[in-house]
Amino acid sequence: PKLDILITRNIPGAALKLLRERFKVDIWPSDEVIPRPTLLSKIKDKDGVLCLLTDQINKEVLDKAGERLRVVSTISVGVDHVDTVECTKRGIKVGNTPDILTAATAELTVGLLISTSRRIVEGTHAARNGDWGAWKLMWMCGPTLDGATVGLFGLGRIGTAVVQRLKAFGVKKFLYNTANKKNNNFEKNLGVQFASFHDLLHESDFIISCCALNKSTAGIFNKNAFEKMKNSSIFINISRGGVVNQEDLYHALSHNIIRGAGIDVTTPEPLPTDHPLFSLKNCVVTPHIGSATEKTRMEMTMLAVQNLICGLDGTEMPAEYKQ
Ligand code: GLV
Ligand code: GLV
Repeated sequence: PKLDILITRNIPGAALKLLRERFKVDIWPSDEVIPRPTLLSKIKDKDGVLCLLTDQINKEVLDKAGERLRVVSTISVGVDHVDTVECTKRGIKVGNTPDILTAATAELTVGLLISTSRRIVEGTHAARNGDWGAWKLMWMCGPTLDGATVGLFGLGRIGTAVVQRLKAFGVKKFLYNTANKKNNNFEKNLGVQFASFHDLLHESDFIISCCALNKSTAGIFNKNAFEKMKNSSIFINISRGGVVNQEDLYHALSHNIIRGAGIDVTTPEPLPTDHPLFSLKNCVVTPHIGSATEKTRMEMTMLAVQNLICGLDGTEMPAEYKQ
């Protein structure tokens, strides 16, 4: 008999077809998030689940699933929505989608950096609203990456790809802090310098958060952190909204404690349209689209499908998440 799997969202037809050939598929056939009660009831007696970053796969879900659950495959690189410690305890394998989304996410990071510093969104609105008067020397000016110091908080696959891309923009110095550890390989091969969190904030013109969300990074960009940044600095977040204290970010942006922010991730998502951050000209918010190229999203889906298939077959998963 076929094993039972749950798919928590609509997925592309080719991926669904592959899964239907092998498994008895229970799917929440919608583009909306599966309601919690539905997830809790559908997960019962499943052998595997294909989920998204919007689904909290915590102890409650694992308990409801029961003994049969062996694989949690998420269509995301982030696994902060999955209780990976609890999964490991129960012998449940976790699969995620690293590498294939690195380039796309690094691209968006560069996009956010430039649209924030060069005020592209604000300028577009000004042009449309009739605020585009005579060509003025000092109008819509912003800082430049050329000769700047860029600080990376988190220097994994995505952070590394961001550094590689930004080199072409004439950045003078790259600082990094990743789990507070110096990495000699990075320093040699990538030309980046370790800095304490304090120095990273204090010295950088652009600060990019590309770390994983976990206990040590949750809320780390708070009032204290923003106050250490230069008044002229630009803050970018492409990791998870949870690394930022959003009230503190709003305060910093509205009181000229920092100059601007470009954020692809928020708390909550979606960010309500009446959220104060949306009222600020110096804040660019994109709707969690870091990996959103057609190629990447398709590859992420296919990798997650392969993770699920291999995990349930008992063969090596192409991308098993290990703590
Ligand atoms: C997106 O945020 C991901 O984790 O893949
Ligand atoms: C700007 O358009 C310039 O010609 O300097």
